[in-house]
Amino acid sequence: MARLRRAMPYHWLLVAAVALTAFHIPSFAQQAGDDSEKEIERYRQMLKADPWSNPATLDIDRGEELWKTARGPKNVSLEACDLGKGPGVVKGAFAELPRYFADADRVMDAEARIVWCMEKLQGLDRSAMLKKPYPGGGKATKDIGVLATYVAHQSNGLKLAPQVTHAKEKEALALGEALFFRRVGPMDFSCATCHADQGKRIRLQGLPFLSKPAEARKVVGDWPAYRVSSSHVMTMQHRIYDCFWQMRMPEVELGSEVPVALTMYLAKTAEGGEINSPGLKR
Ligand code: HEC
Repeated sequence: MARLRRAMPYHWLLVAAVALTAFHIPSFAQQAGDDSEKEIERYRQMLKADPWSNPATLDIDRGEELWKTARGPKNVSLEACDLGKGPGVVKGAFAELPRYFADADRVMDAEARIVWCMEKLQGLDRSAMLKKPYPGGGKATKDIGVLATYVAHQSNGLKLAPQVTHAKEKEALALGEALFFRRVGPMDFSCATCHADQGKRIRLQGLPFLSKPAEARKVVGDWPAYRVSSSHVMTMQHRIYDCFWQMRMPEVELGSEVPVALTMYLAKTAEGGEINSPGLKR
């Protein structure tokens, strides 16, 4: 009995230590996560406060120059390109994309439409353009990307208002939604596996809740965005391409039906969110 009593204090110490650890570790992890999220947000705000600190400003300029330069076998600029509001109208066009284009008889987002104009107006070779359209880490954004950055930037301050009236626009939205929730590939992932919950993270990177309108509105209007960790502008098509890669799915072609439908779903979910492109991502 005496021995047991002597052992008691140690026993209680152990219980107390286990209880404390059990209590402390999750709250510590939670605390670290919250703090880093806050610090990342502070960093974004600092960059936002000084637009010149966003290196993507250079991509807007490169895109504008490219838009206005006569190029390709037909030696014309893209200034006659119809982004949905009539030939030559760039201001505000991005806000209403994706939309149905009668001349192409399909729904297009900004990038798909830019490729279409480069092919039809300038006579550039579509398959060559689509061969390797995205830059590697640390490499400069390619032509389609800077053109999309220029076009998106011309809708800054407007609200996302994708067109969903034509039957093909409705079809694209339904396809995008189905694709977002459909589990596929060797990992059995859907977009929703990573993007349909509050507060999910991979390492320190918060995963936006893209199927919740209030959350989607906070991020979708940032694209194309400058990605600090790869030091170049990434477009929405590139972002979706990379997420499909994370799902170990076959490569998706830029501007094809699947990524355009997903873009439609994302833009529609984020409808009313402000466009502020190029945004900044970690
Ligand atoms: C395995 C997890 C995973 C899956 C599955 C996944 N993503 Fe992502 N997604 C990420 C990560 C991680 C990031 C942030 C990357 C970064 O900034 O480092 C991200 C970022 C994004 C963003 C940018 C969000 C922002 O911050 O503005 C979009 C849009 C997106 N994903 C769309 C999709 C779509 C569409 C699918 C399905 C085709 C998908 N994702 C599937 C992990 C995933």
